[in-house]
Amino acid sequence: MSTESHKPSVHVQAYHRRDVEDFPPQPVLSCEGVDVSYGDFRAVRNIDLDFGLNEITALIGPSGCGKSTLLRSLNRMNDLIEGARVDGKVLFHQQDLYGKGVDPIEVRRRIGMVFQKPNPFPKSIYDNVAYGPRVTGMRVSSMDDLVEEALTRAALWDEVKDKLKGSALGLSGGQQQRLCIARTIAVKPDVILMDEPCSALDPIATSRIEDLMQSLRDDYTIVIVTHNMQQAARVADRTAFLTAQVDEHGQRFGALVEFGRTSQIFERPVDERTSDYISGKFG
Ligand SMILES: Nc1ncnc2c1ncn2[C@@H]1O[C@H](COP(=O)(O)OP(=O)(O)O)[C@@H](O)[C@H]1O
Ligand SMILES: [Mg+2]
Repeated sequence: MSTESHKPSVHVQAYHRRDVEDFPPQPVLSCEGVDVSYGDFRAVRNIDLDFGLNEITALIGPSGCGKSTLLRSLNRMNDLIEGARVDGKVLFHQQDLYGKGVDPIEVRRRIGMVFQKPNPFPKSIYDNVAYGPRVTGMRVSSMDDLVEEALTRAALWDEVKDKLKGSALGLSGGQQQRLCIARTIAVKPDVILMDEPCSALDPIATSRIEDLMQSLRDDYTIVIVTHNMQQAARVADRTAFLTAQVDEHGQRFGALVEFGRTSQIFERPVDERTSDYISGKFG
């Protein structure tokens, strides 16, 4: 990541979609013994998790169990939070993202993030999409083409093609969120992290984002945090259930309880805490 990176050779269109029923994930991103702390507070502990190539993985669990904290550790977004520290390894194509010489800016280009509340810049639609390629100095033969491609990929082009110079803030919430996805895609990431991307949207806008995720899956690896179990069941190939535990000092922390194919997690959970959560007993 410290040098100009290229798309990894595995990330090609020709790669066949696997039947997620039959294979364990072929990890693009892996957590090995990951702890995330805020100062002395070890908020999330000992996470081992693989995020599979061209799969959608959902992180579910009760509020405050550390889903966002874990998600931010996957692209070094926690670096921006004072006092936050990540221990253990986060491997991206076998490279430790927290290793020496890794450039966090490059990490965040290759592992993009979409937030809970759509956060377009107060700029034109066009400039929002062109922003990343411009600031990262991406060499592009035609910025117009790149903007069109990203907006098309984000299922927004038809709605905005006649007002590209108009303010992004004039768009509806759902359109703004698709614009944020277009902005993320424009810098050609491998992975897209989404932290409750639909929680500020109405059901119709939500279903458009869910459809969009399905269409993006063939080209990207997606990790989505959602508090909405139905959403996880609808969109994710695999699901990781996290919950809050209490240690011997009485301190609460987030831990991974169970990880598996979404159908297994929802239909045949192995751990009682998972079945209690998905049946609505807590959370
Ligand atoms: N910036 C922060 N500083 C200190 N503690 C934080 C910070 N962000 C989150 N936490 C704490 O970490 C724990 C996990 O929070 P979070 O990752 O936001 O959970 P979730 O996304 O599952 O709701 C909570 O106890 C929360 O209060
Ligand atoms: Mg959260």
